[in-house]
Amino acid sequence: MSGRRYIVVLVLVWALILTWGVYLAFEGTRMARAEEEHYEDLVHRGMLTFAEHCVVCHGAMGQGVVGPPLNREEFRGHPEENRDVFDFIVQTVRDGRPGTTFPRWERLMTGEWASYTAMPTFGSVHGGPLNELYLRAVATFIMMGDWTQVGAHIPAPTIPEDREELLERLPNGTGLTEEESRQAKEIFVDRGCIACHTMNGVGGKVGPDLTQVGAWTQLTPVHEWEAFLREWITNPPAMENRAPKYWSNYSGPLPYAAAGAGAQRDASAVAERLPATGSPVERLPQDSAAEDARGVWMQIPIPEARPLGPTQMPALPMTDEERAALARWLARIGR
Ligand code: HEC
Ligand code: HEC
Repeated sequence: MSGRRYIVVLVLVWALILTWGVYLAFEGTRMARAEEEHYEDLVHRGMLTFAEHCVVCHGAMGQGVVGPPLNREEFRGHPEENRDVFDFIVQTVRDGRPGTTFPRWERLMTGEWASYTAMPTFGSVHGGPLNELYLRAVATFIMMGDWTQVGAHIPAPTIPEDREELLERLPNGTGLTEEESRQAKEIFVDRGCIACHTMNGVGGKVGPDLTQVGAWTQLTPVHEWEAFLREWITNPPAMENRAPKYWSNYSGPLPYAAAGAGAQRDASAVAERLPATGSPVERLPQDSAAEDARGVWMQIPIPEARPLGPTQMPALPMTDEERAALARWLARIGR
C-alpha cells in the first residue's frame, strides 16, 4: 500500500468513527428526551388517576386519612433506579391487601386511633379500573409527581338539583327519629359538607366517603365516636389526634383477651407498657358495665406509627347546636 492510499483510508476510517460517534451522541440525547417525555406523560396520567381514585382515602396532597400518607420520602425516586419501591407500589395498588376495605378505626387506650382498613384492589386483572399502564402511571406519579397539582383535577361533585331527592338519598341515623336525621341532613347540605363528601353516591370527592361513617368504629363506644366527630367538625385543623396514626395490615378478628379482674385501667400506665412496633397494643372498653365487670382487655396488633400531614378540611361556621346534631347523626349512620 502506498503512503497516500494509506492516509486516505485512515481519513475515511476516522470520518466514519466520527460520524458514528456524533450519531450516537445525538441518539443518546434524543432517547433521553423521549424517555423524559415518556415519564412526563406517565406522571400526568398518574396524577389524573390519583385525583379520580385515590384522593378520597389518601388525600389530595397524599397526606393520608382513611389510607396512610403516601407523600413519604421513602417513596420518592426514579422508577428505574428504585425498582423495589416502584414494584411495591404497583403491586399494592393492583392486588390490594387482604382485609376489610371498609374504614375501620379503633381508639386505643392512649387515645390514639389505629386503622384496620385494607387497601382495595385496583388492577383490571381483578376486575378493577386500572390496567398495567395506569398502575405504572400512578406509581410513577407517587414517586416523581408534584402533589400540589392533584387538587385541581379532582372530579366535580355529583349533586342532584332537586333538594328533596338529595335529602332522600342521604342515609338516616340508626336510632334517631326521622325528624332528627332530616335536620342533620339539611345541615350537611346547607353548610357545604356535601361539596366535599359523598354519601350513597351523591356529593363531592375531596374527602372520604361518609356513607357509613357511624360504622367506622365498632369497638369504640358510639358516644366516644360522636365526641370525636363533634370535635373534628368544630375545628379540623386544630385536631392534634385527628385520625389513625397506626396502620395495620392485620386482617383477622379484633379479639378480646381477658386480663383478669382488677386489670389496670389507667391510660398512662398502659401508655408506659405500650410496646414498640410489631406487638399488640391494648385497649380497655370503657362503656359497658358488663365489660367493666369482666375486666376485659382487647389485643390489637399495631405495626408502625405514621402521623398524618395537616388536614385539608376547613372549619365551617355553624352553631354549637348544629354541630351537635351533625355529630349525633354521623356517629349513627350505618351503625
Ligand atoms: C377505600 C380507601 C382507599 C382507596 C380508595 C385507596 N387506598 Fe391505598 N390504602 C388504603 C389503606 C387503608 C391502606 C393501608 C393498608 C394496609 O396497611 O394494610 C392503603 C395503602 C396503600 C399503599 C401502601 C402504603 C404503605 O405504606 O404500605 C399504597 C402505595 C396505596 N395505598 C396507593 C393507593 C393508590 C395509588 C390508590 C388509588 C388508585 C389508592 N391507594 C386508593 C386505602 C385506600
Ligand atoms: C373543602 C372540603 C371539605 C368540606 C367542605 C368538608 N370536609 Fe370533611 N373532610 C375533608 C377532607 C379532605 C377530609 C379527610 C381528612 C383530612 O384530609 O384531614 C375530611 C374528613 C372528614 C371526616 C372523617 C374524619 C377524619 O378524622 O378524617 C368526617 C366525619 C368529615 N370530614 C365530616 C365533614 C362534615 C360533617 C362537614 C360539614 C360540616 C365536612 N366534613 C366538610 C374535606 C372537607
